[in-house]
Amino acid sequence: MRTIDSLGDLAGKTVFVRSDFNVPLDEDRHITDDGRIRAALPTLRRLVKAKARVVVAAHLGRPKGKVNPAFSLAPVAARLSELLGQPVPLAGDTVGDDAKAKVAALKDGDVVLLENVRFDPREDSKVDAERESLAREYAALADVFVSDGFGVVHRKQASVYDVAKLLPSAAGELVFKEIESLSRATKNPERPYTVVLGGAKVSDKLGVINNLIEVADRLIIGGGMAYTFLKAEGKETGTSLLEEDQVDTAASYLAKAKDKGVEILLPVDTVVAPKFAADAPHEVVDVDSIPADQMGLDIGPKSGAIFAAAIADSKTIVWNGPMGVFEFPTFAEGTKAVAQAMQDAAGFTIVGGGDSAAAVRNLGFDESKFSHISTGGGASLEFLEGKVLPGIAVLED
Ligand code: 3PG
Repeated sequence: MRTIDSLGDLAGKTVFVRSDFNVPLDEDRHITDDGRIRAALPTLRRLVKAKARVVVAAHLGRPKGKVNPAFSLAPVAARLSELLGQPVPLAGDTVGDDAKAKVAALKDGDVVLLENVRFDPREDSKVDAERESLAREYAALADVFVSDGFGVVHRKQASVYDVAKLLPSAAGELVFKEIESLSRATKNPERPYTVVLGGAKVSDKLGVINNLIEVADRLIIGGGMAYTFLKAEGKETGTSLLEEDQVDTAASYLAKAKDKGVEILLPVDTVVAPKFAADAPHEVVDVDSIPADQMGLDIGPKSGAIFAAAIADSKTIVWNGPMGVFEFPTFAEGTKAVAQAMQDAAGFTIVGGGDSAAAVRNLGFDESKFSHISTGGGASLEFLEGKVLPGIAVLED
C-alpha cells in the first residue's frame, strides 16, 4: 500500500484528494453527524502543513448524475472550513470553469472543495471509457492523487479508481488507518471472534453473513433483520419487519452455521409496539409470543444482557448495525446495551457502518473507548468479508 510519504515533497504541488463526506443531513440540510469530516482532517492538515495546494473531491448522496442543489456539498464546505480553521471555498461545479478557476487560484497550503462528483453522470458510470474521460479531467487539475475516502473504496468510480491510474497515487492517513485496524479482524483475528449485525435489511447483508460464517466464531443478529431469522426458526413475528423472500436463505445460514460450529445468537425477547412511532405504547415480550398486531422495534433486556455477555467473552468484536430504532429514545436501549458492552470489552472492538458509528456518537458514548470506529458502511463490511476493494487494489498495483 503506497502512503503519502511515497509522493515525495509536496510543497507547491497540487494534490487531488478523494474524501468521503457523505454525511447525514436533517430536513434543513444541517449536518447531524460530522464524523466523516473530522476523520478526513489528519490527511488534509498534513497536506496543508506540507504546503501543498489541495483539491478535495467528494460525493453526497446519490444524485444520479444530475446537478441537484439538494445534494450540494455546501454544508460540508462550511463545516470543513470550521474544523480545518481556514476557508475552504466550494467550487460551483465539479470539473467546469469555476472548478478550474478556483484550482488555478490556489496558493500553497490552500484547500478547495469541488462540487458533488456524482453531479456528473460519468463518475459512477458502468462504462469504463466514460469514467476514464472524467478521470482525465480530474487528473488535469492536479499533480498527484491521494485516496482518503475509505467509505467509498468499494466503488469502482472515476474519483476513486480511475484517477488513481492516471496520477502518482497513494493512500491517505484515513484509508491507511482503516486498513490497519480492520485487518485485525481479517488476518488471524484473536479468538473468540464475534460479529454483531443489526440494521433493517437482511438482503443487504446476506452475502456478509454467508462469508462471515466462514471466519467468525459467533454471530449476533439483532435489529430489524433478526425477525427474518426468527421466522426461519418457525416463530411468528407479528407485523415486524420481515423479508419473506429471504426466510429460506436465513434458514440455510442457520443450518450452515450449525454445521460449522459457529454460534448464532438471536434475540430471545423484543420490545413491541402497535406502530412505528416514537411515542407508541410498548411492552417487552418473549420472541415466542409476539402478538399478531404488534411489531418489534428493539431487542429486549434479556437479549441485551445475553449479547453483552457474549461480547465481553470475545477477543475481537465487530459491530455493524443498530439493534433497534435507536433514533426513538424508547427503542434505543438494545443499541445502548451493545454499545456499552463494546465500550467495556477488553477485546479489540471495531464499530463499522455509518448508522452504528452515528448511534455511538448520538447516544453519548465516548468514541475513544472503542478500538476503531470505521467511517465505512458497505466498504468496511466488504473489507471484513475479505473482498478485493477496487479503490484499495488500485493503490497496490
Ligand atoms: C457510504 O455512505 O457508505 C459511502 O459514502 C458510499 O456511498 P454509496 O453507497 O452511495 O456509494
